[in-house]
Amino acid sequence: MNVRVDVSIASAVQRPLIACHDLGHVYDSGRGRTVALDQVSLTIQPGEFVCVLGPSGCGKTTLLNILAGFVQPSHGEVLINDHAIAGPSPERGVVFQDYSLFPWLTAKANVGFGLRMAGRPAAEREAVASDLLRQLGLPEAGDKYPFELSGGMKQRVAIARALATRPALLLMDEPFAALDAMTRASLQTRLIDLQQQSAQTILFVTHNIAEALVLGTRLIVMSPNPGRVVEDIVVDLERPRRRTSPAFNELYDHVARAIGLDTAE
Ligand SMILES: Nc1ncnc2c1ncn2[C@@H]1O[C@H](COP(=O)(O)OP(=O)(O)OP(=O)(O)O)[C@@H](O)[C@H]1O
Ligand SMILES: [Mg+2]
Repeated sequence: MNVRVDVSIASAVQRPLIACHDLGHVYDSGRGRTVALDQVSLTIQPGEFVCVLGPSGCGKTTLLNILAGFVQPSHGEVLINDHAIAGPSPERGVVFQDYSLFPWLTAKANVGFGLRMAGRPAAEREAVASDLLRQLGLPEAGDKYPFELSGGMKQRVAIARALATRPALLLMDEPFAALDAMTRASLQTRLIDLQQQSAQTILFVTHNIAEALVLGTRLIVMSPNPGRVVEDIVVDLERPRRRTSPAFNELYDHVARAIGLDTAE
């Protein structure tokens, strides 16, 4: 298929942002042993928008948590800019599925939280938060508290919060999964715009093949038991991507077969 290329050649000549070597993770919980990740080796270059796709339990969240520095892998190593991960860092912004905003802070204060921790002055926090909320389509929401916002609004605030410190890497775990189709489509478009402006590197976990093909420049397909990478595909479809185009559908069917789906979602 013409959309698949060997990325190992490109990876060898550039300095990767992320390099995972033979990564493995086992959860051993007394009630049993689960091999969540096994022999995962991959490199990600700066500026890539990588979507990680696969069925429930294939280790997507585990991989993201390792990259975020929340989980220490049982095996192998991960380097970010040639350095081993020592724990969470403002260099890596994280967006979870369930919004996870601070309920006692306004939207603006949530967005400015990382900057406050970094000791940035109030005027800068205010400017960055207002600008990001405007770019994400929430110019009026800065003084509202999370309980006053809809799910889609909360997720915009969570994205703005992750972007505020300008992290080199944005890690997103099914951030749009709980949203309705219209909100989801609109946030996908805004995320593509933001990524194209900032050239940030994004690792975006999703269950949804169409979402991965709309967003990603690269698609990593995983399978469970044990969690492994089964396909690594460069998505070179032109933007804006149309779900009705033959190239989109050809790639969709290819990915659906790779994850064991015979029919369209
Ligand atoms: N804290 C934990 N303790 C024990 N087992 C765990 C733990 N977290 C995850 N697992 C197991 O590890 C495997 C991978 O889980 P993970 O959450 O990474 O999958 P996932 O691909 O993100 O799934 P989903 O799409 O449902 O979110 C699963 O079999 C899961 O049951
Ligand atoms: Mg998960």
